[in-house]
Amino acid sequence: MALPAFAQPASSQLTRSIPSTGEPLPPVGLGTAEVFDTADTATLQKASAVLRALIDNGGKLIDTASSYGDAERILGDVIGPAGLRSRFFIATKLESPDVEELKRSLNRLQTAKLDLLQLHNVRNPLQSLGAFRDWKTQGVCCYIGITSTSHGAFAAVESILGREKPDFVQIDYSIDDREAEKRILPLAAEVRAGVLTAVPFGRGRLFRAVRERPLPDWAQGFAGSWAQFFLKYLLGDPRVTAVIPGTADAAHMTDNLGAMRGPLPDPDQRRQMVQFIEAL
Ligand SMILES: NC(=O)c1ccc[n+]([C@@H]2O[C@H](COP(=O)([O-])OP(=O)(O)OC[C@H]3O[C@@H](n4cnc5c(N)ncnc54)[C@H](OP(=O)(O)O)[C@@H]3O)[C@@H](O)[C@H]2O)c1
Repeated sequence: MALPAFAQPASSQLTRSIPSTGEPLPPVGLGTAEVFDTADTATLQKASAVLRALIDNGGKLIDTASSYGDAERILGDVIGPAGLRSRFFIATKLESPDVEELKRSLNRLQTAKLDLLQLHNVRNPLQSLGAFRDWKTQGVCCYIGITSTSHGAFAAVESILGREKPDFVQIDYSIDDREAEKRILPLAAEVRAGVLTAVPFGRGRLFRAVRERPLPDWAQGFAGSWAQFFLKYLLGDPRVTAVIPGTADAAHMTDNLGAMRGPLPDPDQRRQMVQFIEAL
């Protein structure tokens, strides 16, 4: 009898470990910027289908933020009443170390404890994670992190990453935006921070670049779709802990989670992938 996807043995699926603890984490997650902004029935139904696709296909990680419209509320309303909290690794972000903002996120997400609490869009090299560290000690979150998707803020990211040594750094990294490969990934490895790659499809730019083209023959041994091609490029770097593509579409979620299965491209294939994309 065929097993449902979520019951497949773990060995058939790629996992990565969180560097600071060794905790395993399925390396394809869900980003929620813009997709669940409005708390209405249609959004709740879409979110419910996407989250079901996430766990039914072996995923766990959700990335959200206090500033993503109603996304935290929608996630809480799907996860809380269904009793599914333990099936997810919930990462959210605060705009500042503000306890009222933190309480609002916990309330909206209907959880007493976050898996990962990130300081959103760091831009000042002197920003402190002191309050986040206190909250971690108090058991409000398991991990702390910082995020940025602005190359102009990479100097601040480098300073904070080197000084505060958070558990995670979330950074923009896609096959056509590889600045993080040079500046952030080596430092993350040095301080043993996990890496979450924001905007792995360049906010959809990569799909527009390949348009109706078929996948090249040489990629079909490791990718079953363009989404898997783009995500497996990132997962081919062992310093990447997880990718967090955004989607409001359950079929796209399932497609993206397919990047956790089958072989990853080797370094030569990764170079070939970059050449292909740069030649478009
Ligand atoms: N500073 C920060 O901390 C920061 C900044 C930006 C983003 N982020 C995080 O990174 C996450 C990802 O970024 P993003 O959502 O802006 O951009 P993205 O993941 O690069 O791209 C999202 C786009 O790709 C499409 N897509 C997803 N899966 C697809 C598939 N299998 N096939 C075809 N199209 C697909 C989505 O459309 P559909 O909805 O139709 O699938 C959407 O238009 C965010 O959601 C957020 O969690 C963090």
